[in-house]
Amino acid sequence: MDVTEYQGELTRAHWDLLLDADPHFDAVLAYTPPQHGEAEVFIIGEAKTPYAICVIVPIEGGFEIKNIATTVMMRRHGMASALIQRVIDLARERGAGFVEIGTATTSRDQIRLYEKLGFKQDGILRDYFLSYPEPIIENGLLARDMVMFRLNL
Ligand SMILES: CC(C)(COP(=O)(O)OP(=O)(O)OC[C@H]1O[C@@H](n2cnc3c(N)ncnc32)[C@H](O)[C@@H]1OP(=O)(O)O)[C@@H](O)C(=O)NCCC(=O)NCCS
Repeated sequence: MDVTEYQGELTRAHWDLLLDADPHFDAVLAYTPPQHGEAEVFIIGEAKTPYAICVIVPIEGGFEIKNIATTVMMRRHGMASALIQRVIDLARERGAGFVEIGTATTSRDQIRLYEKLGFKQDGILRDYFLSYPEPIIENGLLARDMVMFRLNL
């Protein structure tokens, strides 16, 4: 699957995907370019209207996947897995120690996906989602805590 780095301005289609994964607009703004100078954006599909998107930022010792989303029609075709694999390869090439990704404890499918790719649970950020502007209800549950997953390289 063809994963490419996107270096242009974020489009409406990019934002639709990013906000699907993380509805906190200000948070997304803060970890995407140009606001976050070191953020990198990877996509699958057309540059300005991709099927899938992923944003990473460098953190102490590794990289964090801050956002990942696939458009509804193209889910379950391995796109998120391909994006994550690309990030893992890139992080390894750059000598990073780990790749991290966080999700709500209520995000059962996402958790299964990350575990399938080799990530291991690495801590809980209690009440993380309670500071979000709108409550997040997922699988019939209120999302409160963020669970961090880490893949050591
Ligand atoms: C979570 C999300 C990014 C996954 O994207 P995706 O492109 O569907 O992911 P993949 O296709 O790589 O993997 C999803 C599942 O499809 C399966 N799959 C992958 N390729 C497949 C194929 N060719 N045929 C059938 N199933 C396949 C994977 O094994 C995985 O299965 P699982 O449910 O057992 O874990 C997507 O559902 C999404 O955008 N959700 C909304 C935003 C979101 O929650 N983002 C994450 C925030 S933490």
